[in-house]
Parts: sequence; C-alpha cells; structure tokens
Amino acid sequence: MHEVMKIEGGHMLEGEVTISGSKNATVALIPAAVLANGPVTIVGVPQIADVDSLSEILRLLNVEVKVLGPDHIIIDPTHMKNVDLDQDVVTKLRASYYFMGAILGKYGRVRIKMPGGCYLGPRPIDLHLKGFEALGAKIHYDHGCYTIEAEKLVGTKIFLDIASVGATINIMMAATYAEGRTTIENAAKEPEIIDVASLLTKMGATVRGAGTNVITIDGVNSMSGCFHEIIPDRIEAGTFIIIAAAAAKKMVVKNIIPQHLDALLSKLKEMGVKMKVDVDKVTITRPTHLKAVDITTRPYPGFATDLQQPLTSLLTQAEGESHIEETIYVERFKHCLELQRMGANIDLMNGSCLIKGPTPLYGEKVSATDLRCGAAMIVAGLMCDGVTEIKNTYHIDRGYADIDGKLTALGAKIWREMAED
Ligand code: EPU
Repeated sequence: MHEVMKIEGGHMLEGEVTISGSKNATVALIPAAVLANGPVTIVGVPQIADVDSLSEILRLLNVEVKVLGPDHIIIDPTHMKNVDLDQDVVTKLRASYYFMGAILGKYGRVRIKMPGGCYLGPRPIDLHLKGFEALGAKIHYDHGCYTIEAEKLVGTKIFLDIASVGATINIMMAATYAEGRTTIENAAKEPEIIDVASLLTKMGATVRGAGTNVITIDGVNSMSGCFHEIIPDRIEAGTFIIIAAAAAKKMVVKNIIPQHLDALLSKLKEMGVKMKVDVDKVTITRPTHLKAVDITTRPYPGFATDLQQPLTSLLTQAEGESHIEETIYVERFKHCLELQRMGANIDLMNGSCLIKGPTPLYGEKVSATDLRCGAAMIVAGLMCDGVTEIKNTYHIDRGYADIDGKLTALGAKIWREMAED
C-alpha cells in the first residue's frame, strides 16, 4: 500500500492564500545556525518534511531544537558534538550538504554521507568540494561518505565555473571562521543566498556582496545566537500564482516579495494573465484566453528552473506553441511524460520541449517524480476533467507546507488515500 493524493478537477478556486517561509532558504539557514555559539531563533519556518529531516540531523549532533510554534524554532548548538553523519536521514534531502560547509567551518573536520534529494539528472557537488579545497581542506571519499578536514582554513579567492546556489552558500559558511578574506567570484545571486548572508551577519560574521556576483567573507573568531525571520518562498508563491491562472476566478497570493517573481510575472503577463501587484501580494483574475510563450530557465534573476515544471502544465492550455529551454537541469522534463498521459501534446527534445496547446487534460494515475513535478501534477489536476491520482506524495511534502489545506481553503477538492501497490 502507498499514499496517493487525489484531485478532482474543474472546481473554480477563489480566495486568499498566505505563502510560507522559503524552503530553499530554510534548508540552508538551519545548518548555518550551528556556526553560532548560542541559541538562534528562526521564525517563518515552513512545515515541510525537509525541516523534520534537518532537525533530526541537528539532534544527532546534540544540537537542541525547540519548536515554539508552528513556524518558530530555536536551534541551540551550545552543546554540539561533531559526530559522523553517516545515517540514512542525510540521504533524504539534498540540502544536508550544507552541514559540510557549516561543520567544516566550525570544527575544521566533517564526515558526512553523500546527500540525496530530487533526481533532476546529474547533480554534482564538485564546485562545493573545490571551494573547500581552495580554503585548505583535504577531501577523502569512502563507504559513501565524504571526510573533509583542514588543519586550518585560510581565506582565498574562489571562482565558481558555474554560479551554483549550493556551492556559494556552502563556501560562504565554511569561510566564516577562516583566517583572512575569502572572495567568491561568479557567485550565485538568488534571494536565498542573501537570506543566509543576513543570518550569518546577525550572528557576527562579516559577509559583503550577497546578491551580487562577488561575495567577500572576512573570517571572525566567534559568532553568537540571534533572531531571524525567513523570506517568503518565491517558488511556492509562483506555484500558487500559476494555480490561480489555471483554475481560479480570483485569488490573492499574500506574503510575497514581488521583485523575486519578476521573471514569472512578466511571462504570465505575456500569456494574458491579469494581475494586480501590490507591495507584498498579488491578485490574479481568471484570464479568458491564454497565449503560448517561450521560456528559457536561467539563474536568478532569470526564469527559475523550479517554476518551469508547474508552468508547463499551464502552457498546455495556452493557444499556440510554447518552447521551453531548460539550461540549469537539462533532464528536468519528467513531468512532461506525466502530462502526456493526461492528454498534453508535448514534444520532448534534448534539454527542451515544445508544448502545443490548448489540449484538454483528463484525470489519470501519475507520479510526482520529483518535488516540482508534483507541483506540475497539482496544477494539471486542478484544471483537468476527472480525478487525478498522484503517487510519490513524499516529494510534494518535502517542499510544500500544507498544500492540501491551502488548496482546500481555496475551494479545491483534494484528499489523500492509501492505494494498492
Ligand atoms: N553544479 C555543478 N557542480 C556543482 C554544483 C552545481 O555542476 O558543484 C551544476 C548543477 O548540476 C546545475 C547548476 O550547476 O546544473 C546549478 O546548480 P545549483 O548548485 O545552483 O543548484 P542546487 O544548489 O543544487 C538549488 C535549489 C534547487 C534549484 C537550484 C537552481 C536548494 C536546496 N536547491 O539547488 O531547488 O533548482 O538551486 O536554482 O536550494 C527545488 O526547490 O525543487 C530545487 C531542486
């Protein structure tokens, strides 16, 4: 038996939804907190399975995790022990790799299993490791574990061949206690990086330039606890805005930073979606007609690869041919195979796809092959005729806080059941 999510399509949504704190910021902020020597209070923590897994890892490290409210935790690393992280929980998510930079930075040694996470094609971590080596660490891989250790970490200039989000954050964390200045060139510019830099700065680190492509970190001797509120999740916000365009009469998506969504909002405008953007919310009203658009995914501030998948579902209802080019993860098209089963007309090519619309979609048994594929299936399920049954729901629960509750409040018919294997 396995759990499935079921969605009865065709119900018109209406109302407001409040976006949770950013998953991809949270999964870096939690490991970053261990760099402090006192309690770090974080609010706006989304209730997602990745947070549970990271909290489990913190407990293995003898770091106290107090849950003070639904989105409010205190992480106290005062009695932390640098134990080997070779347990299976490490492989439940990709972001466990942030413990590499954080623990290496704090203790000069870390032993940790290879991280897991969504399969989006090959996802190497060579740039993270090269960064640690440049800071003076030696790396050894055996029994599925990395041992990364340094007698002393010394600041240096590091050029990233690709502007990787994970490598930028990991190197930033490892460098906080390093001797002297570390400069990361061709750093990624995603808002989540600014959020992590802002936490580190409050803790006492000296980080400048986050949000630009050059970040400098001047090593410090000590960092203390602090209070931090997480930025809203731009990908969850984008997902709900796409859901609104797909299936809502009128929807207000609250607690957003509209600038973080610029690329998506301009593409939706081009498609003919009607939106009113305010300081921290956007109101979407039902478009009468959707036009096809071309999308190329790019690092921030370009079009986010994480929104490429849910947008594909909406594009099946747009008139004309939409071409999507995926430049971050060229194999991130598994959702297209699932959409084809629901009736979509999509040609898959190497690193790109062509969607011909509009085509009616009908309910089918599909799989959330990864987190954002799950989001794409939800968008399609809400628009289609009949009941969609989505398996591998754990991928969805890794990244979307209370998606069932939020959609039900908007008028969707969504529920979970156990199904035969
Ligand atoms: N890359 C390398 N070597 C490295 C690191 C990255 O070749 O050492 C390549 C990757 O294979 C990819 C590109 O560089 O082609 C960019 O990868 P990046 O490192 O920026 O991605 P990430 O840090 O692994 C984060 C998000 C992803 C999101 C990407 C791109 C987290 C935990 N994950 O991954 O989010 O797609 O940035 O924006 O922050 C998701 O939320 O569904 C998700 C997968």
